[in-house]
Amino acid sequence: MAQVIERVQELLDPAEMIPRVIGRYSPLHIDHGEGVYVWDVNGERYADFTSGIAVVNTGHCHPRVVAAIQEQAARIIHAQANILAHSPMMRAAKLLTETTAPNLNQVFWTNSGAEATEGAIKLAKIATGRPAIIAFRHGFHGRTHAAMAVTSSRVKVRGHYEPLIPSVYFAPFPYVFRSPYKGAPEDADLYYFAELEMLFDQMVMPDDVAGLLVETIVGEGGYLVPTKRWMQMVRELCDKHGIMLILDEVQSGMGRTGKMWAYEHFDIVPDIMTAAKGLASGMPAAAVVSDRAHMDKWAPGSHGGTYGGNAVATAAAAATLEVMRDEALPENAATMGAILMEGLREIQADYPVIGDVRGLGLMVATEFVHPDGSPNPDAVKQVVAEAFEEKTLLITCGTYDQAIRIVPPLVVNEGQIREFLEVFRRAVASVG
Ligand SMILES: Cc1ncc(COP(=O)(O)O)c(C=O)c1O
Repeated sequence: MAQVIERVQELLDPAEMIPRVIGRYSPLHIDHGEGVYVWDVNGERYADFTSGIAVVNTGHCHPRVVAAIQEQAARIIHAQANILAHSPMMRAAKLLTETTAPNLNQVFWTNSGAEATEGAIKLAKIATGRPAIIAFRHGFHGRTHAAMAVTSSRVKVRGHYEPLIPSVYFAPFPYVFRSPYKGAPEDADLYYFAELEMLFDQMVMPDDVAGLLVETIVGEGGYLVPTKRWMQMVRELCDKHGIMLILDEVQSGMGRTGKMWAYEHFDIVPDIMTAAKGLASGMPAAAVVSDRAHMDKWAPGSHGGTYGGNAVATAAAAATLEVMRDEALPENAATMGAILMEGLREIQADYPVIGDVRGLGLMVATEFVHPDGSPNPDAVKQVVAEAFEEKTLLITCGTYDQAIRIVPPLVVNEGQIREFLEVFRRAVASVG
């Protein structure tokens, strides 16, 4: 305790040191974490149902990941990939490609989701020799310039930063809960697919399109799950026109949805996949994964970076992939996700302020509505604040912050899920 108090006295005011562009959800100054929980510098414990934005899928500071980081840090930290090969990078690539479809067999390592987006776009352009990219409304792919250009989850991500890269064409993503389509709900996906196809009649020649980039499950934009039929039609459209299907699995991958990769739910395989977030349990590692035949078209030196494949980060990735496999975390996500979803639907039945409960596995969101059905970010704010009072961390998503993400670490157990549901019910009840 004396140690904790000493540390509190040492604290610097974040407002002095950190620019306000880093907006924060909570005033917490954190000390350490373990599994589903984090402790602040005052020794207070919080249940982390954000997973640091869907990152610590193996739980905070999983002992095997910590050991791998410590061991590697003492061996070599920086073995620059253009100069040296090293085991963690290759072992992590092997473990990663053991989880993916056979055509996703080579890994370009990078540091963040945005950089993976950049790499995937560049690879699609090089592999096809074409200039254009199709992306989807509500999508989020990162904050660098190309990533902003394919992002439309909310205007503040890209507004005032123009010019962005050109030749990006947007189609609407099937957000069926809020759709201009008023026909039979089971046909909504056909409407959205027709909108996508219309791009080729109105905006861009298909043989100018290098890649079609889509989040398998839309994350920041609202946790939107497409139908299997829509995904399969998109895959077929890409095949028909020689367009590379690029699936962004940065948020939906690494077991989050109850399968290792969300694309497995749809019986399709992408040509290029991006991964980050959960990939290294919080160390900065990200990946562009594709077939060697495509990767071979990327001439040496035509893409790269100083830190990609960092030895400590990829040691953490390798340990993370092993933990994911050995502890069957995707399976746990499916089981716990079903309990979570059922509990949330019960709360929804009692409180019409929850308009929609959606998701797959432990990638789940609840959307809040006014009585007229319009987005209700005020209710979201209150529920997040009430949950915080009960020492539970939550984050929002959606263009208007109209939804709350529920994304605990995949090591979460049933008792913790049920405890969370009680907290959430009380928080929703406070809104009425
Ligand atoms: C689907 C998706 N793609 C890309 C990114 C960008 O990742 P990063 O923040 O690591 O650049 C994110 C981040 O939230 C994401 O959710």
